[in-house]
Amino acid sequence: MPASLALQRIVYCSVAARPELALQSLAEILAVSDRNNRRDNLTGVLLISRGRFFQVLEGAAQDLDRAMNRIRLDPRHHDVQVVSRRPIRDRKFAQWGMVAARITPQQQGGIDAVIDHCHDDPDAAVAAARDLLDHQIAA
Ligand SMILES: Cc1cc2nc3c(=O)[nH]c(=O)nc-3n(C[C@H](O)[C@H](O)[C@H](O)COP(=O)(O)O)c2cc1C
Repeated sequence: MPASLALQRIVYCSVAARPELALQSLAEILAVSDRNNRRDNLTGVLLISRGRFFQVLEGAAQDLDRAMNRIRLDPRHHDVQVVSRRPIRDRKFAQWGMVAARITPQQQGGIDAVIDHCHDDPDAAVAAARDLLDHQIAA
């Protein structure tokens, strides 16, 4: 496989411009992200809690760079900090262009934990985000 097509995963956190981001803007972000990411063969998850975003993006390096360049410039958030970028063998979010964990009282603690600890252990945060989705599918 050419190096440019090898899979990578980016994990980043950022701070929402408006802490209480309206649910509608979140829905808009998700809809556009899902559409663009499917086109670009990107997959991932987006969590939001207490005015902070956590996002995982998986795909080819070039496609990730293009998406990250757009995302960094988006005025709906700031302080975009990439906490991990590394090659991966398999996608963890293969079935979603972009998916969000449902913000319910049951999920809230899990979402907060992922965002709080993403700097310490990004891989564990990715696994925990995937667990949250599995949990809500099963619920
Ligand atoms: C927290 C956050 C996450 C985002 N994630 C993505 C994403 O995964 N893919 C994407 O294409 N755009 C994402 N966006 C939106 C981009 O910043 C940008 O608005 C969009 O890519 C523009 O798409 P368009 O040129 O098709 O209108 C995100 C924005 C925010 C604030």
